[in-house]
Amino acid sequence: MCGIIGYTGERDASPILIAGLRRLEYRGYDSAGAATCRQGMIDIRKRAGRVHVLEELIDREPLPGVHGISHTRWATHGPATDANAHPHLGGRSQAEVAIVHNGVIENHTALRGELERAGFRFMSETDSEVIAHLIAQALEEEHDLFEAVKRILPRLEGTYGLVAISPAHPGVLIGARMGSPLLVGMGEGEQILASDASAVAPHTRQVVYLQDGEVARLTPSGFDLVHRDRGVVAPRVDRIDWRPDAAELGRHAHYMIKEIREQPATLVDACRGRINRRDATACFGGLNLTPRALRRVRRVVLIGCGTSWHAALVGEYLIERIAHLPVEVEFASEFRYRNAPLDDRTLVFVLSQSGETADALGALREANRLGHPTLAIVNTVGSTIAREAMGGVYLHAGIEVGVASTKAFTAQIAVLTLLALHLGRLRGLSFQEGLAIVEALEEAPGLMQDTLNLEPLANQAAEPIAQARSVLFLGRDLLYPVALEGALKLTEVTYIPAHGYAAAEMKHGPIALVDETTPCVFLAPRCSLYAKTVSTIEEVRARGGIVVAIGTEGDRVLPGLASIFLPIPDAPEVIQPFLCVVPLQMLAYHVGLRLGRDIDKPRNLAKSVTVE
Ligand code: F6R
Repeated sequence: MCGIIGYTGERDASPILIAGLRRLEYRGYDSAGAATCRQGMIDIRKRAGRVHVLEELIDREPLPGVHGISHTRWATHGPATDANAHPHLGGRSQAEVAIVHNGVIENHTALRGELERAGFRFMSETDSEVIAHLIAQALEEEHDLFEAVKRILPRLEGTYGLVAISPAHPGVLIGARMGSPLLVGMGEGEQILASDASAVAPHTRQVVYLQDGEVARLTPSGFDLVHRDRGVVAPRVDRIDWRPDAAELGRHAHYMIKEIREQPATLVDACRGRINRRDATACFGGLNLTPRALRRVRRVVLIGCGTSWHAALVGEYLIERIAHLPVEVEFASEFRYRNAPLDDRTLVFVLSQSGETADALGALREANRLGHPTLAIVNTVGSTIAREAMGGVYLHAGIEVGVASTKAFTAQIAVLTLLALHLGRLRGLSFQEGLAIVEALEEAPGLMQDTLNLEPLANQAAEPIAQARSVLFLGRDLLYPVALEGALKLTEVTYIPAHGYAAAEMKHGPIALVDETTPCVFLAPRCSLYAKTVSTIEEVRARGGIVVAIGTEGDRVLPGLASIFLPIPDAPEVIQPFLCVVPLQMLAYHVGLRLGRDIDKPRNLAKSVTVE
């Protein structure tokens, strides 16, 4: 949430900053800005709107300099206006410092009052501007930017990933982190500070992730790292292991459809090296738990937000079915404040694509605080959740840029299927049953590839849906969470209200919505509850409702009941979630296209929600 990139080196900074912002734009896109220091002055350009608006401004009014910062914003305090866009300047009569900030300063009102009384004038409604003035005030005594930033940090309550520059300190970038990600990209004769590795990947593969409480001082030739309480820190250098062009669109019109189409491959990657055919089980390198410890487990808690929460729900059905272990799924935002009882035979997993979601991180820290070993299922390598968990499993889905999560969802359910298998084989699951799951998983990528051919039909189904007032998504058992995910995808990408339900719940209320303006999308492939789902479809038909049905190819009933029938390959129940979610994702995409929505950057959203 909010993207930050700062540069110091020998090259012209603004093209690097703009290119970085383009890569970070998925994190927030209400407004954008950049500032450079040159000849003892700060030069600044900022605008409400997308990065291209800023780029056009800089084309008209160039921003020279080899030392600068930039930001793309997801508004928290104050609407998306030019004034509220970052960077913010600090100083009395002239700008002594410029900052960009990601996070929320909770005590900004008190700080603002104090600074106003001390003679500082505010130009924006943001919480962030206090940081700029606080640093400028500290510079009046410290005369050193590094010291000034360190001095004011204890005054900030809340979260920050921030970068500061000052014209009195040419070539110096100061970065500080508390709760919002920040990393140093180490180059040759140049250094970069950014909120996300995707912004530095085109320039360097060597990165150092800052930890909470750390402050970095960068110059073109290197950097120093200190912890604000503990002093000098020896940096741990990580390597970005994906290619920068992984974040390029290539031949695809949008990241969302690119990432939908990548899913057969990401499913293979999520399972790679984790299937043990000989023992009909799964293996994980990073769980850090012995088979004996796993056998002692009596309960599993899965925690996540949004799409990750839906994946966790699929996990609940899978683990209960395959391993016969009770599972609870929690919203991270609720778990962290709920004081949920956890005993030492409970296994806790936090699921997060980004590994930076504030609520998910809060839940992880709460479980850690209780002394409970907590594991993570995360996509982003080196992310905060990955680092703070006791162990875990990476999704290996590659960078996900589309704000609507797609390939991370299927990678999450792949990992959860493997986890269910692993836990099951440590309990009553027989070799033959385990092997059936292994074989289903091995078959899944090919079948998923086949479901991608449904795109023309998904496009056809998009026509009635695009005209709908609202849409219901219905499924049962393992496909109930998939229905929830279908509804979320449609809502976020198209802004059409959509609700997901367990199909049998329909008659307990939602059926009141059914008419010709509220289509119902049913997930009804051949499975143990197929006949029951068909009965629910009949109930909708009897009330004049439009039905879109996803079912097994060769089904003789559904094509007669549904206005549009999308056939998926015949497959074991355990892998049906992979196959059913693909047409739902494509449906959301095509409805969004028809309605002219900004598919990869839906309004009000951002990838990686790093505020509570
Ligand atoms: C929906 C979506 C969000 C995220 C949620 C959690 O398409 O992307 O609902 O799933 O914000 O994000 P992570 O998984 O990064 O913790």
